[in-house]
Amino acid sequence: MKNTMVAAVAAMLLSSTAVSAVELEVTHWWTSGGEAAAVAELAKAFDATGNTWVDGAIAGGGGTARPVMISRILGGDPMAATQFNHGRQAEELVEAGLMLDLTDVAEAEGWREAMAAPGMLDSCTIDGRVYCVPVNIHSWQWLWLSNKAYEDAGVPVPTNWDEFVAAAPALEEAGKIPLAMGQQPWQSSGAFGVMAVAIAGLDTWLAVNRDKDAEVAGGPEYAKVFEAFGKAREMSAGSNVQDWNQATNMVITAQAGGQIMGDWAQGEFQIAGQVAGEDYTCLPGLGVNEIISTDGDAFYFPKLDDPEKEAAQKQLASVMFSKETQLAFNLKKGSLPIRKDVDLAAANDCMKKGLAILGDGNVMPSGNQLLSPDTSTQIEGLMVEFWNDTSITPADAQAAYADIIASAD
Ligand code: GAL
Repeated sequence: MKNTMVAAVAAMLLSSTAVSAVELEVTHWWTSGGEAAAVAELAKAFDATGNTWVDGAIAGGGGTARPVMISRILGGDPMAATQFNHGRQAEELVEAGLMLDLTDVAEAEGWREAMAAPGMLDSCTIDGRVYCVPVNIHSWQWLWLSNKAYEDAGVPVPTNWDEFVAAAPALEEAGKIPLAMGQQPWQSSGAFGVMAVAIAGLDTWLAVNRDKDAEVAGGPEYAKVFEAFGKAREMSAGSNVQDWNQATNMVITAQAGGQIMGDWAQGEFQIAGQVAGEDYTCLPGLGVNEIISTDGDAFYFPKLDDPEKEAAQKQLASVMFSKETQLAFNLKKGSLPIRKDVDLAAANDCMKKGLAILGDGNVMPSGNQLLSPDTSTQIEGLMVEFWNDTSITPADAQAAYADIIASAD
């Protein structure tokens, strides 16, 4: 009798003290296999707080998703949280006063002290206030190679960009495409940026992307980059896919030798059951200049004028930055954790390479941190046009590029 009475009282107390679950709609563009597995870890962590993650995945990549996100926020139909790339993509929304200030959470939880690359929090900070929670470090600076494609072609797996270019004829002989590339503009534009750092060097890349020096953009070092980019265009002839993960799948299935892509490609290799170092090889900095760029993702929280939702938004930001969530999410995403106190013992060979480079301080900013969204979009448009129109010469493309940099902000 007694136990039943105690159980009844406990149930009553629990029901009377239970806080009502708050539903938060979260928008993002993570729709590939690896990305979906990773974002599910964020959702699971938030649901575990008793609140509810309402998933708002938008297919088609960031270039499609961001205009939808921005128009909803500006149009008075905001979501509760949304992904942007880490950098300047949401700065106009913040400056318009539309985004929630997270400084109290960031300070209470010591985000800046916990950051693996403290400068990254600067990209969330405007006028001394913090407006986003960075969730990963996703470096663009990688070349992913199919070990089987090179085995099939009877040539060794390349250890750097020059060897990759030299091996291309053997791959073509074996009926394979040397370089996989999808048609979304950000893909060829991203590959150009990685090649610029490897071929022209970091200082020259910074002169153009940080200092907006059009002379350098139109000069001899970048002429070498555009020549190599023209060669890369030839090596991807026949790569008729749209999405980045379809291009990654060409490498996974040994139809292509390699892909220049950010380390989110790892999520696809993992979902396919492939093992770093055995099935695929990763060359940071194209094997030329081992470096990590602080590309990545961050979540921003539109103001909703609802105290209960605002409390839940801050709880979501806190959950995203927590050690447990950082481990679960980044292992699935293939990215490096945003905080330095996460034990990545389970990291694969490629993630360990990235962590070592990060630990050595060979870190560079991302284009998204240095260039305005408008300038980035102009560069993407030029690069995808060059990629698809072989009548445009490397010299033509470089001249147009120098003009964009001349008016870059
Ligand atoms: C990037 C994003 C990555 C990755 C990629 C492909 O912008 O930072 O997380 O998912 O898009 O969708």
